[in-house]
Amino acid sequence: MEALRKELETLQAEALELVKKSVDAAQLEKVRVSFLGRKARLTAILRQLPTVPPEERPVVGQLANTVKRAIEEGIEARRAALGSIPSDEILRKDQIDVTLPGRRPSLGRLHPLTQIIREICGVFVEMGFAVMEGPEVEWDYYNFEALNIPEDHPARDMWDTFWIDPASARTSTPMLLRTHTSPMQIRIMEQTRPPVRVVVPGKCYRYEAVDASHESQFDQVEGLAVDEQITFADLKGTLHTFARRLFGKDRKTRFRCDYFPFVEPGVDMSIDCFLCKGTGCRLCKDTGWLEILGAGMVHPNVLARVGYDPARYTGFAFGLGPARVAMLKYGIEDIRFFHGNDLRFLRQFP
Ligand code: DAH
Repeated sequence: MEALRKELETLQAEALELVKKSVDAAQLEKVRVSFLGRKARLTAILRQLPTVPPEERPVVGQLANTVKRAIEEGIEARRAALGSIPSDEILRKDQIDVTLPGRRPSLGRLHPLTQIIREICGVFVEMGFAVMEGPEVEWDYYNFEALNIPEDHPARDMWDTFWIDPASARTSTPMLLRTHTSPMQIRIMEQTRPPVRVVVPGKCYRYEAVDASHESQFDQVEGLAVDEQITFADLKGTLHTFARRLFGKDRKTRFRCDYFPFVEPGVDMSIDCFLCKGTGCRLCKDTGWLEILGAGMVHPNVLARVGYDPARYTGFAFGLGPARVAMLKYGIEDIRFFHGNDLRFLRQFP
């Protein structure tokens, strides 16, 4: 009896030791078969039970069962532990070479139009202008009426308009997609008293045939300065400074008469062609000059409309297209590149 008990205890210790050393499910299974299987040592011991004296049988039987359960539990626990450890095979497949260089995340960048808009606004901010934005869906009143363009005035033909509801074009307060950023002149003046110095970047829309220099959605930057004693000299000085900041410090500027209903006098400003230095080339179409913006002294009617006394206040306004500025500056030949979603184009503007 004592010998049998010893044997069972050694058996349990041996089994648990082997269980502990097993490194995968296959080894564990071998241990199970050799200790608990049909030809296993424990089974052999249990088979000897009938030879044990009857009064000792329950004790030996119980001990044998305890050993059996201990081994089973040991195997189960080891199996669970092994399950959470990846097998050698998985580890081999999942190997990573930590000495390889990392993969650089590809960083985005600002769209060239965003860059040029920020650059343009930045120049005016340095000259004391604030930056504001306004609605792209606009009332006829702000887009035309208050800008001194009455209904049925031929000047309306200068802007091919997208009406929100075509029928509304005939009502008293039609809604439209703004055709320029100029309506913000009115909105700003309605809300503030002079001095006003502000630039307004934003999207505009026109019912246009799309070609190399026209899109039906485009950007503008509007400028407005109103105060006492603002003169055409301020307009020239400000825009001349702007032109030199953007296109080089030697730029010459040229102002010629132009018509915009909301200014008087109205002008367009050109810079001397920086490519040929004014001698004539393909960029300036042999004129030596590049038109870059429209401007003028704010019309007294416009000032009066927002309750500014035109006898006391004067101001200048201007409007320009950043796409055109960028096209000239970077020699881009087709405006459609900007929205062409072609990385070969976009990557040229770091
Ligand atoms: N709004 C004009 C256009 O889209 C551009 C413009 C011209 C704006 C003269 C102005 C200005 O503020 O004074 O054609």
